[in-house]
Amino acid sequence: MKLRRALLPVLLIAMNLEADEANYDESKVPEFVLPEVLRFENGDRVSTLADWGKRRGELLSLFAKHVYGITPEKAVSQKLVAIETQRIADFLGGKATLKEVSLTFPGREGGPVLHLLVVTPNPGKPVPTFLGFNFRGNHTIHPDPRITLSESWMRPDKEGRVVDHRATEKSRGASEERWPVEEIVDRGFGLAVIYYGDIDPDFDDGFENGVHSIFGKPVGDEWGSIGTWAWGLSRALDYLETDEEVDGEKVAVFGHSRLGKTSLWAGAQDERFALVISNNSGCGGAALSRRNFGETVKRINTSFPHWFNDRFPTYNESLSSLPVDQHQLIALMAPRPVYVASAVEDEWADPRGEFLSAKLGSEAWSLFGKEGIGDIEMPGVNEPVGDHVGYHIRTGKHDVTDYDWERYLDFAERHLK
Ligand code: GCU
Repeated sequence: MKLRRALLPVLLIAMNLEADEANYDESKVPEFVLPEVLRFENGDRVSTLADWGKRRGELLSLFAKHVYGITPEKAVSQKLVAIETQRIADFLGGKATLKEVSLTFPGREGGPVLHLLVVTPNPGKPVPTFLGFNFRGNHTIHPDPRITLSESWMRPDKEGRVVDHRATEKSRGASEERWPVEEIVDRGFGLAVIYYGDIDPDFDDGFENGVHSIFGKPVGDEWGSIGTWAWGLSRALDYLETDEEVDGEKVAVFGHSRLGKTSLWAGAQDERFALVISNNSGCGGAALSRRNFGETVKRINTSFPHWFNDRFPTYNESLSSLPVDQHQLIALMAPRPVYVASAVEDEWADPRGEFLSAKLGSEAWSLFGKEGIGDIEMPGVNEPVGDHVGYHIRTGKHDVTDYDWERYLDFAERHLK
């Protein structure tokens, strides 16, 4: 009896762990009913473009209220001041110009600064430009020693590239494989990047730091970190619209993983983004929430309680009552082009769930007489598909590779040039 009692908690923990283990078996994906893209909450069918305008608004508020959080009014109206702090006219051996631009809050000296790095081909003229966050500082996208080393809070690493939360010289170019800057420039595009931690350092501090120090702690259904990051992308776009070497009407927003979730939410809210790219964004990004494959809503809300708003975890155990699913997020990009990419070994992000979102979300493009993914079951590996909604699943793991960028450049060339 005594022994049994002693074992009980251990057993319960073991059972719990098992219950929480990720599912990677397609036959164990539960049956589910998805909320429709082209149907209003009141049950009416969406059949005209005017209807879609209203449905779009409805879906946006549902995602804000139940998933990513509502952007506080004061943030929506906040303008930042842009100051060019460095210009390197002979970047990439003279092929390109690199600018560093600081975006600051007016009247808030010592407040958060968004450091934007913009590379555009020489000679300068307005070009379509990719905008994306990086995970480790702008100086990690290219080893050029003239790029300013980020002074923002960084996640420590074992390689000594970050010590005491500060980037070291050793970290220059550390992420260059994910950012083929020269290839982008050679194909006539610009690239703008920001370190996402400039907006909100990625740890659960109860929303004290980053831009929360300006806007205050979220209350009620207000935003989590993904919401603040997405807001930062829009502020970067405010600046890019004024940059003479950037075509502000042709800015593609790109993101990988948690930052892919962010690029989708930014693209959904801000229709000035001309094209949207989600690279391996997974749960809370492109992957359907109801599939229970790889990372689940419960798991993500437990591991990263600061990413979404406080209401999202209330659906951890009851996904069928979540009023939206992620194919509707994809639909919010319509009629603009959107690209979703998966990787075979990135099962945690549920490649099939990402594909299904792209495919089912495509319904919205049909209202505009545009083709989305088309009538495809699941494309083969390294076989990109789709017209205004693009998709590929490539070989390899959770990452951003040259293969991914080549597809994005082809897609952007088709739609933005
Ligand atoms: C974790 C997390 C994912 C996320 C990824 C990343 O794996 O579970 O949801 O996409 O980190 O951002 O790197």
